[in-house]
Amino acid sequence: MTQTNYSALTTTPNLVVANWKMHGNFKQNAALLGDYIEKLSSLKRTQVVVCAPYPYLAQLQNKLQSSNIAWGAQNVAKNEFGAFTGEVSAAMLRDFGCTYVIIGHSERATAYCESDDNIACKFVQAQKHGLTPILCVGETLLEREAGVMELVVGKQLDAIINLHDAAVFATAVISYEPIWAIGTGLAATPEQAKSMHLFIRNKIASLNIDAAHQLKILYGGSVNPQNALQLCAVENIDGGLIGKCSLNAEEFSAICHAAEASAV
Ligand code: 13P
Repeated sequence: MTQTNYSALTTTPNLVVANWKMHGNFKQNAALLGDYIEKLSSLKRTQVVVCAPYPYLAQLQNKLQSSNIAWGAQNVAKNEFGAFTGEVSAAMLRDFGCTYVIIGHSERATAYCESDDNIACKFVQAQKHGLTPILCVGETLLEREAGVMELVVGKQLDAIINLHDAAVFATAVISYEPIWAIGTGLAATPEQAKSMHLFIRNKIASLNIDAAHQLKILYGGSVNPQNALQLCAVENIDGGLIGKCSLNAEEFSAICHAAEASAV
């Protein structure tokens, strides 16, 4: 496939998403959000999003509604409404002011048997209700060692493309999260990330050039203040999905400011 340089076409602002996972409580969240607001208010070219556990969405709405920080959830139901005990619909997330939702995170795919079909249904539910889906893709260490990482990520993208159309990526975010890099302290190298991000952009571009231009592609997996600047400077990396370091306002702020510095 022709290698095209899309860096000039990627729209700013950059995007940095905090994935709090199953951490936090009212008191800690209040302090963390207060620090976020203070440290991130000067950002001009970087949109920050906080994705918290469901019970704290009202707290996010309350704290962040007059700030420059958006918020969202870490999962959504694949159905619109009905007898689905324990599920939370996209419309319910909108009721709490969410504008983003993480979909298909590998921690859910492995622990809760999230299938590609489920993920594709969740993706469409999110968009139907005006939420921007943040679709997580990525390979295991075994798959990388076997050299099949592009096949794996390509198949994860095909699950959405085949059910819908590549045009849906115009209003979506893809987060490349190599599973071996999540929570391990071992981030992908800039070269590894560059190659996969280009693969993703090119795959979408081969189907829908406008969607490829508008799509944001984040990198996630052991991003920290030390590697953020280098990763954010990589062509086709439009920001990050941050786990552990998002629980520390100093570290998260340093990552957001690194994204800001690279967003020209
Ligand atoms: P860490 O930043 O803790 O590696 O987590 C990455 C992640 O899973 C973001 O969704």
